[in-house]
Amino acid sequence: MCGIVGYIGSEPCMDIIVEGLRRLEYRGYDSAGIAVVEGGALRSARSEGKLDNLVKKLRKEPLTGQVGVGHTRWATHGRPSEDNAHPHRSGTVAVVHNGIIENHVALKRELEALGHTFTSQTDTEVIAHLIAHERKTRNAPLPEAVFAAMKRLVGAYAIVVVDASEPGTIVGARLASPLVVGLGQHENFLASDVAALLSHTRDMIFLDEGQIAVVTAARVELRDAETFAPIPYRATHVTWTPAMAEKGGFKHFMAKEIHEQPRAIADTLRGRVDLENAAVVLPEIPLGADDLARVSQIYIVACGTSWHAGLVGRYHFEDLAGLAVHVELASELRYRNAPIDERTIIIAISQSGETADTLAALREAKKKGARIISICNVIGASIPRESEGTLYTHAGPEIGVASTKAFTTQLVALHLLAIHFGRLRGRLTDAALRAELAALLHAPALVESALPREGEPNPYEAIARRWHEAHSMLFLGRGNLFPLALEGALKLKEISYIHAEGQAAGEMKHGPIALIDERVPTVVINPLDQHFAKVRSNLSEVRARSGPVILIASQGDDEAASLAEHVLYLPDAIPPRLMPLVVALPMQLLAYHMADFKGTDVDQPRNLAKSVTVE
Ligand code: M6R
Repeated sequence: MCGIVGYIGSEPCMDIIVEGLRRLEYRGYDSAGIAVVEGGALRSARSEGKLDNLVKKLRKEPLTGQVGVGHTRWATHGRPSEDNAHPHRSGTVAVVHNGIIENHVALKRELEALGHTFTSQTDTEVIAHLIAHERKTRNAPLPEAVFAAMKRLVGAYAIVVVDASEPGTIVGARLASPLVVGLGQHENFLASDVAALLSHTRDMIFLDEGQIAVVTAARVELRDAETFAPIPYRATHVTWTPAMAEKGGFKHFMAKEIHEQPRAIADTLRGRVDLENAAVVLPEIPLGADDLARVSQIYIVACGTSWHAGLVGRYHFEDLAGLAVHVELASELRYRNAPIDERTIIIAISQSGETADTLAALREAKKKGARIISICNVIGASIPRESEGTLYTHAGPEIGVASTKAFTTQLVALHLLAIHFGRLRGRLTDAALRAELAALLHAPALVESALPREGEPNPYEAIARRWHEAHSMLFLGRGNLFPLALEGALKLKEISYIHAEGQAAGEMKHGPIALIDERVPTVVINPLDQHFAKVRSNLSEVRARSGPVILIASQGDDEAASLAEHVLYLPDAIPPRLMPLVVALPMQLLAYHMADFKGTDVDQPRNLAKSVTVE
């Protein structure tokens, strides 16, 4: 989720690129860089941290060329640092990249054997060396060198490339990561996002998957990345405002992030599933079969939404790895004398990696000799730095305070880790492991199908219109959907300020049922799963007390419509272990539309911060 800008024309491009990067800074802000062709040579500047650090550098030593690329980074491979900042160079070639190259380790070995020297820990650097190699050994023109390099790359990416030895051309390519060409007068642009280009042009060519753009100041040509054949194209006139463009056309970052979940989940899985060898590929987790044989228990430690992810994770570790799991609020665990020892694995979960309580609980456990691993979205944050190994979720920057894509990618990361541990503990046969992984690979499509379809009536809007003035709401779930009831209630209260409680459905009769009356809607999570009949009884108890019901139901639940004021149907055929992942969508969408209808500040709700770095 980095930001890319490229320019070719007759103007000095430094300011144009920096201004474009500023528009994209929300997509990545741990380092930034620019490379420009100047007097036939490549000149570049890079800085760790926010774009302003780069700007300070450029003020001292401006770049004056008229062809260049820039990048603002959100780290996926290699911690944030100047060395890891893009553009990455090899000889006269400079590359900026958004995405993940899965086979970068093998390519790096191959290129090193050919004499290439690497200076970063990134996956991106292999692209620069591959292209430079093609240019040198086959004398390939830049577009063909990019085409040849793409044949070797496995993963998802958008790239933009310049070469000082061919300064009249700039090349972009898209494979599963967006890239757009902006059309100007005697100048053209490339960017990962239209937001970067709107102050220069509104005429855009949106690249499709597997397309290469060969761009000069005067013309644009598209080529097929499989055959290199030319592809006809049509430009689109974009009418978005810059603010709309940053949010991908959505009204709020939260809405954008909800809709990004299929992509984010695919990125969490990317390169980690090896169906052929029936394996989960997690070299970042330094625990082997011997370690797992010694382990007696897992403590999952987190706060807020990350804690809810941990509660779901418990089911995965119990079912797939047969391990005893405690799921703890970090703010509580840090002050308890829990029996944590060297036979304990701590899994700290944190989107930001900076949550003070989670970090403190991790440190306490470390003192007691526990093995520490973490699940985190921000590369190089404090929690990963203090862990033995970190499974990064690769969700990309989450701007909305309400956690959405961070949550679902944490669920996927936990699921992967549980399968991995199950394997290491000899609990999963090849066939069972393959079945589990195959189901997980289907998760992005399942989540996609839980999103409201454009052009169809949006059921969440109808619910929001009817209930946005409610003072209180209940959320009920059982089993691995109880944590989703908690998450639904947290989402609703944090952004709409409506009081909400998540309850284990079976606990209703032990107290919460006293709250029910005709003004308190209850969201009942009741798909056709092993708890269906029990939860249906709980739903009847609510209805018997005149409580309005918003029912989350499976397709094929014929009774649903007659039992509830509103029914939100889930997609078909959801494997039980993926149910929480899919149910997360109605929880998020319900909260989002309630808050939007009320007119609260969805992305920055009152009293809340994105990263809670104080106790
Ligand atoms: O960055 P972390 O995952 O450690 O943050 C934990 C909580 O502060 C966070 O999940 C919070 O509850 C969210 N605002 C929920 O949407």
